[in-house]
Amino acid sequence: MPKPKVSAAARQRLFRAARKVMKNAYAPFSNFKVGAAVLTAEGRVFTGCNVENSSYGMTNCAERTAIFSAIAKDGPDLEIRAVAVVAADEDDHEVPCSPCGACRQVIYEFGPRAVIFYQGAKGPKQSLITDLLPEGFRLQ
Ligand code: THU
Repeated sequence: MPKPKVSAAARQRLFRAARKVMKNAYAPFSNFKVGAAVLTAEGRVFTGCNVENSSYGMTNCAERTAIFSAIAKDGPDLEIRAVAVVAADEDDHEVPCSPCGACRQVIYEFGPRAVIFYQGAKGPKQSLITDLLPEGFRLQ
C-alpha cells in the first residue's frame, strides 16, 4: 500500500501546534512534558498535552488528550490523517518520544492509515500507525 501523503506544510503546522500545547502539560511527577497535534481528514487540527495525577495511573497522555478533544468537538466519525508528537525534559530540551502502546491503539481506532511524526533517537521520524502497531485490535 502506498504511504498516505501529508504535505510538509501540514507537518510543520502540526509540529508548531504540538510545541505550543506542550507548554500546558501538567507533569510535576515525571517532569516529562508532551504535546500532540492531530490532523483530521477534514483538515482540522486538535491539540493535547499530558495531564498527570497524584494517583499516577490516572495520567492521560498528550495523544489521547488531543484525540478525545477532537472527538468531543467534531464527533465520532472523524478520521485521523496524521499525528505529531513532541516532548521535553525538565530543562525544556526536546527529547525523543514516540507514542506509547496505549496511544497507538487509540490512534489506530480513528486513523488506521494515520501518519505519525515524532522525534526518534537519531532525529525526526515518520511512521505509519500500522508500522508502530502491527495487528492493531478492532472489535468485529
Ligand atoms: N506520555 C505521553 O504524554 N505520551 C506518550 O506517548 C508517552 C508518555 C506522558 C505520560 C506521562 O505524563 C509522561 O509522559 C511520562 O511517562
